[in-house]
Amino acid sequence: MSSEAPTFAAPRGMRDFYPEDMAFRNLLFDTWRRAADMHAFEPYDAPVVESLELLQRKAGEEIVHQIYAFQDKSGRDLALRPEMTPTLARMIAARQGSLAFPLKWYAIAQCFRYERMTRGRKREHFQWNLDIIGEPSLSAEVEVLATAVDALTRLGLGRADVRIHYSSRALLAALLTAFGIATDHHPATFLALDKRGKISDEDIGALLHASGLNDSQCEAVWRLLRLETLEAALAILPPDSPVVADLSLFTRLLAEHEMADMMQFDISIVRGLAYYTGIVFEAFDARRQFRALFGGGRYDNLLASVGGRPTTGVGLGFGDVVIAELLMEWGRMPVDAMRGDLTIGYMQPEQRACATTLALALRRDGRQVDLALACEKPKHFFSRASRRPFRSAIYIGPDDVSRGHARLKDLETRAETEIPLKT
Ligand code: HAM
Repeated sequence: MSSEAPTFAAPRGMRDFYPEDMAFRNLLFDTWRRAADMHAFEPYDAPVVESLELLQRKAGEEIVHQIYAFQDKSGRDLALRPEMTPTLARMIAARQGSLAFPLKWYAIAQCFRYERMTRGRKREHFQWNLDIIGEPSLSAEVEVLATAVDALTRLGLGRADVRIHYSSRALLAALLTAFGIATDHHPATFLALDKRGKISDEDIGALLHASGLNDSQCEAVWRLLRLETLEAALAILPPDSPVVADLSLFTRLLAEHEMADMMQFDISIVRGLAYYTGIVFEAFDARRQFRALFGGGRYDNLLASVGGRPTTGVGLGFGDVVIAELLMEWGRMPVDAMRGDLTIGYMQPEQRACATTLALALRRDGRQVDLALACEKPKHFFSRASRRPFRSAIYIGPDDVSRGHARLKDLETRAETEIPLKT
C-alpha cells in the first residue's frame, strides 16, 4: 500500500466545502434570503459564465486584471464573473420595456477573482447582491442598507459591532471641481484614491500625476482627503448645491430608519469600481480588524452603458468570507443553529424495529432525525452523536423496550426526559 499524500488539492484560492463548512454556508444563505424576503426583494439568478466583453471595462479598475477569462471550443471570449452587477444590468436592459420599476432584486452569486490571496480574500467567493433599479431617490440607498443591517442582526451582530462608512462620488466630484480639477480627471482620480491603504501615498501621487493632475491639483486632492466631517465637506460647497441637499436628506433618512448611529462619514470611501456615481459605502467591523463586510453604492449610468435606456441603480455586495472570519475570531459563530437535531441509536438488532417506529413518528412530527444505520455500543453511539454534533440523542437498549420508555438526552445540558416507545 502506498502511503503517499493525495496528489490533488483544490486549485489555489478555490474552496472545498466539507459538511461543517456547508453548515455555516447554508445558515448564512438562509439568513441572507430571509432578510431579503422580509424587505420584499425578489430573487434572480444567472450563469457564472459571462461574455468577456460585458465584464471588461475601464482600465484602472483592479478587477479588470483579476478576470478568469477563456475561450470556448468555438472561440467565444468568455469569463467567470468577478461580480454580479454587469449581469444584472444586462438582464434588466434585455427586458426593460416589460419590467415595472422600481425593481428590488437579490441574488447569491458565486464570483471568481484572480486576487492576491490575503486575509478576507479568496479567488472564489459567494456574494449576496441586493439592488434597486429605477428609483432615483435616496430611499433606495437606505433600503439596501437597512436590509444588510437586518442580515447582520440576524447573524448576532449588534449596532455596536459594525460601522458603515460612507461618502459620495457626487460630493467628491463637486469638491474636486471646487478645487479646480476638471471633470475629465475625476474617474482616474477616484480610482487612484480607492487604492489608498493598498499602495503607498507616493504611488498614489504618481497615479494622480499620470492622470494629468499638476502639483497644486495633487495637493488639493490631499487637502480634500483631510476633511473629517460631512459638515466640513459641505461647507466648501455653495448652500444651494444639489449635493448639499442630497446628503442632508440622506442623513435624515438614516435617522428615520434608526441607522444614524451605525453610519460614519468617511471621505476616503471611493470604491474601486468605476460605475458608481453617487453615495458609496463600505461596512467594517467596529474594531477594524477585517476587510469590508459589504460594499456598494449608486450607479446611475450602468444600464445605459450596456445598451439599456438610462435608469438609476443602487446596490451592494456582501461576501461570505469576511463575515465567517469575523464570527469565528470573535467567538460568535451561531454553533447551536448549525447542530443536527436528534439522533437515535440502539444496542442490538432486536431494538431496531422500535427505534425505527420512533424515528418515523418523530420525522412525521417535523423533527430532523438521524437513525443509526447499525447497532452500536453506547460509548460509540454517544461519541458519534457529539462529534456531528446533534442537539439530543435517544439510545434504546433491551430494558427500554421492555419498560416501554426511553431517555431523550440533551447533549449540551446532559438533562434527560422520558419518552414513550411504541413496542
Ligand atoms: P465589491 O466591493 O467588489 O463590490 O465586493 C463586495 C463584497 O464582496 C466585498 O465587500 C467582500 O465582502 C466580497 N468580496 C469581494 N471580493 C472578494 C474576494 N476576492 N474574496 C472574498 N470576498 C470578496 C462589488 O462586487 C459590487 N458589484 C457590489 C454591488 C452590487 N454594487 C452594486 N450592486
